Amino acid sequence: MLRLNNLHKIFNYGKVNENYVLKDINLLVPQGDFITIIGSNGAGKSTLLNLVAGTFFPEAGTVEINGQDVTDWPVHKRAHLIGRVFQNPLQGTAAEMTIEENLSLAVKRGQSRGLRLGLNKKRRAEFQRLLALLELGLENRLECPVKLLSGGQRQALTLLMATIGHPQLLL
Ligand SMILES: Nc1ncnc2c1ncn2[C@@H]1O[C@H](COP(=O)(O)OP(=O)(O)OP(=O)(O)O)[C@@H](O)[C@H]1O
Ligand SMILES: [Mg+2]
Repeated sequence: MLRLNNLHKIFNYGKVNENYVLKDINLLVPQGDFITIIGSNGAGKSTLLNLVAGTFFPEAGTVEINGQDVTDWPVHKRAHLIGRVFQNPLQGTAAEMTIEENLSLAVKRGQSRGLRLGLNKKRRAEFQRLLALLELGLENRLECPVKLLSGGQRQALTLLMATIGHPQLLL
């Protein structure tokens, strides 16, 4: 469940270029629900998602996930609750790392961890099974650096990475 209470976001507050992007936003997304937010370019959609993810903090208002107030939590502290696909496919993946390394990082998202990737035969087989669902042939390119993928292939991989840890909330 996601709940936004009286959320306000102002960029460059008090300056000549002040931009009051979100004014008193209230939203309740019940467990299991799927919603779409539409608006023109620059309307504030990505800003709203950034407030939910913790990339930005609101000037006023609160963000609750599953009844917990996460308004002051930084991105990494919310990471185990939230999976995210970014507007820009270059975000959300590590370009120099391989497909399997990226997926490994996604599995460990939000867990306290060392830097070991924990790749083994069983995990590779599971990655191949999941990648095959995308029907893009990526299951045969586990060791391919992500920077060599097309924009759409990379975005599809990002979706898999965002969901592989079964987050409470998918943005
Ligand atoms: N970090 C920032 N600093 C200052 N202004 C920002 C910042 N991020 C976004 N804005 C401004 O906030 C407004 C909303 O931007 P946002 O990215 O949320 O729009 P959007 O609805 O996602 O648009 P699009 O459909 O083009 O992706 C825009 O005017 C943008 O210039
Ligand atoms: Mg946007």
